[in-house]
Amino acid sequence: MASVRLENIKRKFHNVTAIEDISFEIPDGEFWVLVGPSGCGKSTILRTIAGLETATSGQIYIGNELMNDVPARKRDVAMVFQNYALYPHMTVAENIAFGLRMRKVDPKIIKERILTVARSLSIEHLLERKPKQLSGGQQQRVALGRAIARQPQVFLLDEPLSNLDAQLRDDTRAELKQLHHNLGITTIYVTHDQVEAMTLADKIVVLEKGRIQQIGEPLSIYAKPANRMVATFLGSPPMNVLPARYTAAGFDVTGQIIPATASIKYKLQAREGQAVDLGIRPEHIYIAGEPQITQSTQTQETAQLVVEVKVVEPLGKETLIRAALPDSGITVNLQTNAGVLPYPGDRLLLGLDLSKLFVFDKNTGNRLYPPPS
Ligand SMILES: Nc1ncnc2c1ncn2[C@@H]1O[C@H](COP(=O)(O)OP(=O)(O)O)[C@@H](O)[C@H]1O
Ligand SMILES: [Mg+2]
Repeated sequence: MASVRLENIKRKFHNVTAIEDISFEIPDGEFWVLVGPSGCGKSTILRTIAGLETATSGQIYIGNELMNDVPARKRDVAMVFQNYALYPHMTVAENIAFGLRMRKVDPKIIKERILTVARSLSIEHLLERKPKQLSGGQQQRVALGRAIARQPQVFLLDEPLSNLDAQLRDDTRAELKQLHHNLGITTIYVTHDQVEAMTLADKIVVLEKGRIQQIGEPLSIYAKPANRMVATFLGSPPMNVLPARYTAAGFDVTGQIIPATASIKYKLQAREGQAVDLGIRPEHIYIAGEPQITQSTQTQETAQLVVEVKVVEPLGKETLIRAALPDSGITVNLQTNAGVLPYPGDRLLLGLDLSKLFVFDKNTGNRLYPPPS
């Protein structure tokens, strides 16, 4: 096992800059997730660490060793891709053993290793089958098994669950987490799925357009997103963004006023008259007169907002409501109790928990409030 360190990595394809100045250090044994929308450079970063891609500039270290000129097969990393890429003519056991045979590992050890790995992934009963006799989920387990069997210093996983159906994806995700807990191998996991990022990661690296937006523990990024992109990317339904003008009276949102708390006023004194974006998560909005589903104190400061219901989505344990500010295209998503089922077109009076309000710079998207602590 080993740490992984990237220093100012950049990758250009002709005139397209795929990744720009990426630096981070993953301590030995941690599970990090690179997350961001499609095209933000996740696979390029992973492939560069694997040695399948060459950085235009910058340094990559595994452990304390500079890897820039070390060929892929000598980097002691194992990579798993979205499309399982198993050898079709080999059995499951042969697929798992492949990397070990290549390294001329003692056949006795190989045999033991196949069994241990197969057990840990619950695929012992499939060892004699060929890939085409397996379901997608089973094939992906074999691909994981092939990577695990090698006992590499570092695991690199590129959207390994994206081809699985929802239930299997959730199950395999949990298994992966347990597997990492047991093996403790440094893992870098790439996904566009914020749920996978939140649930799996020790640390998340949020990327957009080839740049790091924020690095941190999942819950700390969720609670304190550095900017609007991170705020709206993590969380489902996503954080609501309300365009507003900051005035002496508070935030003017299409004519409705959301008062500013004393602490917001203090922080935004220089911004009067300016356009800003307000952020509020669906779980921090409630319908006036309805009991809240999230815990809040009675003494909290709240603001009121009138919206028009657009779509009602009952989920059994709760209801998601997509609404909009009247006469505007501005969407407001909220979560409420299962029994609350308004009709499209209804007007609702909402309460917003002001202690949970975010303010972002309209142009840069950077968080203005709450200030860094
Ligand atoms: N071999 C390549 N040639 C040219 N452009 C590429 C190549 N590989 C990736 N890119 C570009 O680099 C950017 C990042 O791609 P990628 O790392 O695959 O993103 P992600 O995995 O986050 O979806 C994209 O704009 C993509 O089109
Ligand atoms: Mg990719």
